[in-house]
Amino acid sequence: MNTANNKKTFLVAGNWKMNPSTHKEAKKICKDIKSSAQKTRRVQTVIFPPSIFLNECSTEVHKKCAIGTQDIFWEEEGSYTGNISASMIQSYKATYVLLGHSELRVLGETDIYVNKKLKTALKHGLKPIVCVGEQARDTEGWYLHTIKTQLEACLQGIARKSLKDIVIAYEPVWAIGKHATREATKEEADEMAIYIKKVISTLYDTSTASVLRVIYGGSVNTKNCTSFLEAGHVDGLLVGRESLSAKKFSEIIQSVDSMK
Ligand code: PGA
Repeated sequence: MNTANNKKTFLVAGNWKMNPSTHKEAKKICKDIKSSAQKTRRVQTVIFPPSIFLNECSTEVHKKCAIGTQDIFWEEEGSYTGNISASMIQSYKATYVLLGHSELRVLGETDIYVNKKLKTALKHGLKPIVCVGEQARDTEGWYLHTIKTQLEACLQGIARKSLKDIVIAYEPVWAIGKHATREATKEEADEMAIYIKKVISTLYDTSTASVLRVIYGGSVNTKNCTSFLEAGHVDGLLVGRESLSAKKFSEIIQSVDSMK
């Protein structure tokens, strides 16, 4: 038994990306996930549907099953075609926001934008999950430098007291999606969670690093889900593909809930 995990509440988030196709399906998946989520004791579930389905999903919000959006814009309102603001999503009971996902970064999202969005999210009392991750692993350890640079830039000007409200999602790009080169090992996820907390203790201090939550994402499934959490430094999971099946996602949250 890992004593560090004894009393911990894990955050398990499902990123639906640009799925499913209809609002009817979205409502059904959300309803089924909520019914499993509300039975858990030590898991906070969060679903990130496409924002067009927030209305359907907001009726399924429960204290154990929150909803969020996959992005927000940093301005409050105005001529920003295609964007949505923090207040807009809050009017649909969304309390979380995913920021800096690698699939947005590849389309031009930058650390500077993530930083602006993060400040806006915090100002609105939203709970941000900030994604960081390297494209590839190298033997010289440059991937560590990538993570450090992303953290420094995304957290630029963020007050120490806000770190308890921020979650960092470590998502190695090479482990994400159906084109993943391979799954990350539990050791790789755990080491990176330690490294992220170390960077935060250098940027802020050790007590700030100790309250920061780091979750892991990239090919998480019903079989490997608990392995990433066993060593005690990873505080939850960000699930992509498997979160679109209410059955599989429920199995993940139940497995995490019954971890020793
Ligand atoms: P995946 O996606 O679980 O399908 O690999 C994870 C993510 O992109 O958040």
